[in-house]
Amino acid sequence: MPPETSLGTGLSLDTELELPEPADTEALGVRVAAELGAGDLVVLSGPLGAGKTVFVRGLARGLGVSGAVTSPTFVIAREHAPLPGGTGVPLVHVDAYRLGGGSVDVAAELDDLDLDTDLDAAVVAVEWGEGVAERLAERYLLVRLARRPDDVRVATVTWQARG
Ligand SMILES: Nc1ncnc2c1ncn2[C@@H]1O[C@H](COP(=O)(O)OP(=O)(O)OP(=O)(O)O)[C@@H](O)[C@H]1O
Ligand SMILES: [Mg+2]
Repeated sequence: MPPETSLGTGLSLDTELELPEPADTEALGVRVAAELGAGDLVVLSGPLGAGKTVFVRGLARGLGVSGAVTSPTFVIAREHAPLPGGTGVPLVHVDAYRLGGGSVDVAAELDDLDLDTDLDAAVVAVEWGEGVAERLAERYLLVRLARRPDDVRVATVTWQARG
């Protein structure tokens, strides 16, 4: 999908989506997963506890992959294999938080991990990926999550071309 097209029916770009409950954030992940395919990169931004992992849980459910999506605090990446009845596309869930800042070459780090999953055949979702993961792909889906004082999360979802 080229960057300028809309993200499927009902999800308009550059709109702030209000997500009152964790289930809403997860449901957004499910909807977004329906728009994704092999080789797509999702970059997640937002502060601690914003709901990035909850969103990825929705991606996993939408794609139909195995394994629990948890905060990969002590691992850099988790691989989730396709389940029967799913889309057949694996999910690689990366946490760039520990990779330490803007100079990190996520592509090289992932290469070093020698994952079983071919990234070109997977959806790759990177928490704390803004500024470090974009170089993995020509374009990426930027999911920004903010936390309002009333605890409602506000999401914006936009395709971005690598600058
Ligand atoms: N509307 C909401 N959407 C998502 N999470 C919510 C919402 N309201 C409350 N929460 C809670 O906020 C927490 C979000 O945690 P989550 O691990 O997804 O954040 P994160 O952005 O991945 O944080 P980190 O940067 O530490 O990885 C969960 O405990 C969840 O239950
Ligand atoms: Mg997280």
